[in-house]
Amino acid sequence: MDRFVIRGGVPLAGSVTPSGSKNAVLALMAASLLAEGDVVLENTPGVRDLQTMIRILKRLGVDAGWESSGTVRVQAAEPSSVEAPYELVRTMRASFMVLGPLIARCGHARVSLPGGCGIGARPVDQHLKGLRALGAKVELTGGYVEAHADRLRGTHLVFDVPTVTGTQNVLMAACLAEGTTILENVALEPEVTELCTVLTGMGACIRGTGTARLEVEGVSRLSGVRHRVVADRIEAATLLVAAAVTGGDVEVRGAEPGHLDAVLDKIREAGAEVTVSEGGIRLRAGARASGTRINTAPYPGFPTDMQAQMMVLLALAEGPSVVTETVFENRFMHVPELRRMGARITVDGRTAVIEGVPFLSGAPVMATDLRASASLVLAGLASRGETNVLRVYHIDRGYHQIEQKLSSLGGRIRRVRD
Ligand code: EPZ
Repeated sequence: MDRFVIRGGVPLAGSVTPSGSKNAVLALMAASLLAEGDVVLENTPGVRDLQTMIRILKRLGVDAGWESSGTVRVQAAEPSSVEAPYELVRTMRASFMVLGPLIARCGHARVSLPGGCGIGARPVDQHLKGLRALGAKVELTGGYVEAHADRLRGTHLVFDVPTVTGTQNVLMAACLAEGTTILENVALEPEVTELCTVLTGMGACIRGTGTARLEVEGVSRLSGVRHRVVADRIEAATLLVAAAVTGGDVEVRGAEPGHLDAVLDKIREAGAEVTVSEGGIRLRAGARASGTRINTAPYPGFPTDMQAQMMVLLALAEGPSVVTETVFENRFMHVPELRRMGARITVDGRTAVIEGVPFLSGAPVMATDLRASASLVLAGLASRGETNVLRVYHIDRGYHQIEQKLSSLGGRIRRVRD
C-alpha cells in the first residue's frame, strides 16, 4: 500500500489545472450504454474509479478503454451481458448507475446492490422507485436488483430527496421510455446538468436542464457523441483550500467558478481573498483564517464533498466554527485523525464544533474515504513537521496525480510504496 510523506510549512504558490470531473465521467460512461454509436469522452481523469467503470463496462461485453491519456472511448453496439457483479459494484457504488441504461437498452438487468459505505447507509430506494415508476418490474434477490421491462413507459415522479446518481439513473432510463416523463425534485449538481447536455447531444429530448424539474420525451434510440468533460469542481476547491491552509497564493485554472459559489463564499468568509478571472480562480490567503459556520447541503449549497477539506482551514482559524453535515450520517471520520495532529474538534451527531488552534503538528494518519483522505493531505501541508498519510488508495480513487499537482505548487509531498 502506498503512503504520502508530507513535510508541511511551505505556502503553496503558482498555478495548477484540475483534471476532468470524476463524478461527471462516471455518469457519462454509464450513459454510453444507451448509445448505438461510439461515446468519446475527453479530459477524463486517470483515477481508479474510472478504471473500475471500464472493467464493469467490459464485463457487460462493451468495448471500453483509454483511447489516449485523458480520452476514453466506449463502443456499446450491443451489450452482451446485463449483469454487474457484486465484486465490482461493491468497490464503487457509482457502478449502480448502469442499472437504468441496461433496463432501457436491453429490457433487463441484474445489478448488485452497492451495499453500505463508510460515510453512510446510502440507500438506493429512490433509484428503484423511479425505475418502478417507469414500469420496470424490480425485485431484490440475494443482494441483487433483478429488473425487467419490455419497454419503459413515461411517468411523473417526484423524488423524495434530491439524489445525484438517483436522478442520473432514472433520467437515463427515461430517455428511451415510451412517452413523456416528468421528474421533479431532481438533484441540481453540475454533474446532472452535464449528463443532460450530453444525453441531448446523443439525441435525447430533455427540457428543464439545470432546474429541479426535467421533462423527457422518450426516443427509440440514441447515437454516439464526443464530449469534453468539465473540470472537477471538488478537486479545484480542494486545491484552493490547500492554498488557504498553507497561507499561499494559488491560481486554479480551467475550473468553472459558477460551480463553486457556495465554497468560494465560505473561503472568503474565513478571510482569504478570492478573485475570479477569465482563466481561473485565484486565492491569496489572509493573515489567519477566522472561524465561521458551514452547513453542507445539496447543490447549490455547500457541497458535502468539501466538508472535510474545509475543516482543516477552520481547525487553524481564529475563534470557533461549527460544521453541520446534513447530507451523510457518518462523514466525520477525518476528525479523530485531525485531532491527533492537534486540532480541537468535538463531534455531536452531525455537528462538529471546532476551536481554532495556531498550528497543527505532523503525525502518521490513516485515510478512510476519498475526501477525508484529501483533508489529511491538506492538514499535512499546513502542519509543522512530517505527516505520513497511510492508505492513499482512497485518494487515488478520485484525485489524479494529486502529489504531482501539489509538488508543482511547492508542496513537499512524495509517494512511498510500502
Ligand atoms: C453523489 O453520490 C456523489 N457520487 C458523491 O460524491 C456526493 O457526495 C453525493 O452525490 C452528494 O453530493 C457520485 O456522483 C458518483 P446522493 P450519491 O444520492 O448520488 C440519500 C465523492 O466523494 N439517498 O445524492 O450516492 C442519501 O442517503 C462522492 O466523489 C436516499 O435516501 O449521493 C444521502 O443522504 C462521495 N435514497 C442523500 O440522499 C436514495 O435512493 C444524497 O445522496 C439515494 C440517496
